[in-house]
Amino acid sequence: MKALINGIDVEYRDEGRGIAVILIHAFPMSQAMWDEQVAVLGRICRVITVDLRGFGDSDVPPGPYWMPLMASDVRGLMSRLGIDAAVLMGLSMGGYVAMSFYRNFPDAVRGLILADTRAAADNPEGRERRLKSAEKAEREGTESIVDEMVQVLLSQAAIETRPDVVSRVRRIALQNQPGALAAAQLGMAARTDSAEMLAAADCPSLVIVGSEDRLSTPGETRGWQERMPNSRLAVIEGAGHLSNIEQPDQFNRAVAEFITTLAI
Ligand code: MLT
Repeated sequence: MKALINGIDVEYRDEGRGIAVILIHAFPMSQAMWDEQVAVLGRICRVITVDLRGFGDSDVPPGPYWMPLMASDVRGLMSRLGIDAAVLMGLSMGGYVAMSFYRNFPDAVRGLILADTRAAADNPEGRERRLKSAEKAEREGTESIVDEMVQVLLSQAAIETRPDVVSRVRRIALQNQPGALAAAQLGMAARTDSAEMLAAADCPSLVIVGSEDRLSTPGETRGWQERMPNSRLAVIEGAGHLSNIEQPDQFNRAVAEFITTLAI
């Protein structure tokens, strides 16, 4: 389904009934990464997934795609759907968007699920890497970025033994245009550090990390999660950065348990 939000057509899905949970995808993916979550969580709550601006089947406006801009797209979609407050679940870049959303619209958040993401802003080297990646996307195309990303998005075990998972991730990512990848990299490079905000957040939160996540490691994740007063941590065993794709059963169980406590 499409909705006109902030002047662009945004593609979304809206399934199930009950407490609203909005799923915000990673880079360089789309809402298609949430298929196993929609199938299972749609039985216990209202699940909304969205293609962030530039990604999947949403329009591809010029960038940069600042995190607050993408958060405002999500807020606009909520208004369109008549939802005052929702649980926000963001994985990686989706987590950055969820943090920005919480910073700007705290009253619209019933709970936060932050998966395989980082509270810290980029350091100067990280920012430099993103600017180079943005240039490379524009110069060499989506495939050049996807090929290097797959190596870090998935665990070594998945890369070596699960060709179905590798090809699914590639297929989803290859749908995206180089300009969108560049625009999102520029937006992520400029994102605000959220560690202090999260340490002061009273919102019920679930933090998830794959035990084999190489981009947002379990050690780093524990460091900021332990400072969040109303949070708990779920480690998804045997999963890399895209923990929802590599180990959907474990991931869905952790999310379903958390949503059930909120819905009571
Ligand atoms: C993602 O999975 O969304 C990206 O790895 C985020 C990032 O590059 O920081």
